[in-house]
Amino acid sequence: MMRLAVIGTGYVGLVSGACFAEKGHTVVCVDVDPAKVAMVNCCKPPIYEDGLQELLDRNVPARLSATTDLREAILTSDVSLIAVGTPFDGEEIDLSYIVGASQQIGRALAAHEGWHTVIVKSTVVPGTTEDVVLPILERESGRRAGHDFGVGMNPEFLKEGEAIADFMSPDRIVIGGIDERSIRVQRELYQVFPEVAMLETTPRTAEMIKYTANSLLATLISFSNEIGNLSAAIGVDVAEAMRGVHLDKRLTPFSGNGDRVKPGLLTYLAAGCGFGGSCFPKDVKALVAHGRRAGASMDLLQSVIEVNRRQPGKMIDLLRRTRSDLNGARISVLGVAFKPGTDDVRESPSLSVIQSLIDMGALVTVYDPVAQHEAERLFGSSIAYAATLAEAVSNADAILVMTAWPEFRQLPLLIERQVRTPFVIDGRRILDKFSVPAYAGIGLPFAGAPTA
Ligand code: UGA
Repeated sequence: MMRLAVIGTGYVGLVSGACFAEKGHTVVCVDVDPAKVAMVNCCKPPIYEDGLQELLDRNVPARLSATTDLREAILTSDVSLIAVGTPFDGEEIDLSYIVGASQQIGRALAAHEGWHTVIVKSTVVPGTTEDVVLPILERESGRRAGHDFGVGMNPEFLKEGEAIADFMSPDRIVIGGIDERSIRVQRELYQVFPEVAMLETTPRTAEMIKYTANSLLATLISFSNEIGNLSAAIGVDVAEAMRGVHLDKRLTPFSGNGDRVKPGLLTYLAAGCGFGGSCFPKDVKALVAHGRRAGASMDLLQSVIEVNRRQPGKMIDLLRRTRSDLNGARISVLGVAFKPGTDDVRESPSLSVIQSLIDMGALVTVYDPVAQHEAERLFGSSIAYAATLAEAVSNADAILVMTAWPEFRQLPLLIERQVRTPFVIDGRRILDKFSVPAYAGIGLPFAGAPTA
């Protein structure tokens, strides 16, 4: 078993650290924020993620601890994983946290007595580990990569909301290393996942795999949304069309015993009000910008971004077909999180829809079972907040479903009990179109307002 220092206690860092501890490694999480560090050491997850509490309960303090002292963490570990944020600043990813972490790790490495391998886990554009991180480590430590310490790149493919399950049963593990020893150390690190396919490659390719994977998934979503917009216009339900497309065995292969294997791709062929989150929007933009700098035009991915930018507006278009003037209309927005299972609202389509409704003079009420506080932080008193789904639904002229929270499937029952019939606009296609009296869905032909 190894001693790990994980730099950065965000989604990727904390989940990776907690899961590696669960698997038996000894992990110290490093963060500049003393409040986060204190929370981890008190077994309190600083983020909402299913199963994280149990992991902390089982592993803090024996195999998992947190500190603000990066130097000490490096000096007492065999491997460090850099898992700091790489926000997109409009032109390129901002590497300042990566640079800062590399500088501090480099300084600590100068005094490290054993062999240490630095592994980049953050999503960074191809070339970053070798062209940015490695030279900083060498400069700050006065030592040579490959000779005195190892360098690797190990992208993470976990999904928020399912992060622990994804980390514990990964589809694949990609390890990039500058040399055989850097690869070997990562192989040892992941020996605790003996069943999983491992792809060994260069750091640059590992970085490219991560961007390519996210760009492909984002492309599938924008593709489905483009087809959905056409479907709705010509009298076709995109959900049915996609089911038919998906039965091609190149998309849903048969397993050995003749059954369909789990329908992986279909989920990313689901048309809706657009993708959000801290990854797809940022990663596709970063790859387009990186391509431009490298002299490669990325027209397809540019369109993926553009389709997605317009997609939340389709919810407003549908709403306005039920009522052209939204001034004074009571609109309930269900869901603020960019997807269920998380309180993350970054780039959530819900945010732009709420803002448009406010701008048009609508009286907006928001309900989200987990991310409500984020809406309160962003919109303050310009909108109202419902404490329960039932409260959000009562008295609404229209209801917009923006996040596929399972709880929202109770909507037909709640509406049935009401005197007033609100129009339901389903941005995630989670409801049966016949289950509510007045229904419109993304990618579904508009049936018109019901007669009173
Ligand atoms: C995504 C990838 O799925 C992970 O593999 C990757 O590791 C992660 O980014 C990352 O780079 O860290 P995540 O952002 O957590 O994971 O979310 P997803 O579950 O992939 O959903 C992203 C967005 O796409 C959500 O807003 C979701 O509602 C939307 N979506 C997804 C659709 O609109 N249609 C679909 O069919 C699927």
